[in-house]
Amino acid sequence: MEDFLSLAASRRSIRKFMDKDIPKEDIQYFINAAVSAPSGCNSQCWRFVAIQDVNILKRIEEAVTRKVESILKIKGNDLPDDYLASKKKMVSFFTKAPLVFAVFMTKAQYYDPIFISALKENGYDDDGIMKLFANYDLLSIGAAVQNLLLAVHEKGYGACWMNEPAICGDEINKILGVSNEERFISIIPVGIPAYTPRGKKMKAMEDVFNYS
Ligand SMILES: Cc1cc2nc3c(=O)[nH]c(=O)nc-3n(C[C@H](O)[C@H](O)[C@H](O)COP(=O)(O)O)c2cc1C
Repeated sequence: MEDFLSLAASRRSIRKFMDKDIPKEDIQYFINAAVSAPSGCNSQCWRFVAIQDVNILKRIEEAVTRKVESILKIKGNDLPDDYLASKKKMVSFFTKAPLVFAVFMTKAQYYDPIFISALKENGYDDDGIMKLFANYDLLSIGAAVQNLLLAVHEKGYGACWMNEPAICGDEINKILGVSNEERFISIIPVGIPAYTPRGKKMKAMEDVFNYS
């Protein structure tokens, strides 16, 4: 068993997968890892939906590519050759994975009602309070997704954390029958990697870390 640093450092985003199904016990393992993450006020403010139905994936792909086209319309003929085709590919490669997780953010809780009521009396609304607390609802989702990615990698699969599909989050909610109270955040295709990723450029340690 490799040490944790080796596992974390060798995880890479994978965007092409072999056509091989993923057993249910592995799916459960990934989710158990995800939901073990810390969350602000232990809110566990997440929902994961496992999608294996190609028709559902097709509908999500259509929604995302339609949205990309409508956003890019404003550029008229100014786009470089092949840009639209390659952009559509980059936002929709998840449809070719044998398993795709959709990640939603549910309502986070606060542990200190007195402080919250004081903040409201100071003029903060719910969104303002969450922003003041550095968006711990979103941070909690990030922690859960990273756990999931590492569990996927540990089991020999690959995945890619994708946020671009959030451009049509409301439609994805509708397609998956998830209430609008739960905000779509990410899509994560998972499968056996169909290639070995190239090395990635890392920032110098002194640019990202120091003692003070
Ligand atoms: C919050 C977040 C959102 C991302 N969204 C996308 C995305 O929409 N599409 C994509 O291809 N990759 C996406 N990525 C993957 C990054 O491009 C990738 O993590 C980065 O280039 C570093 O490469 P690595 O994951 O192989 O280490 C996302 C990563 C993170 C953390």
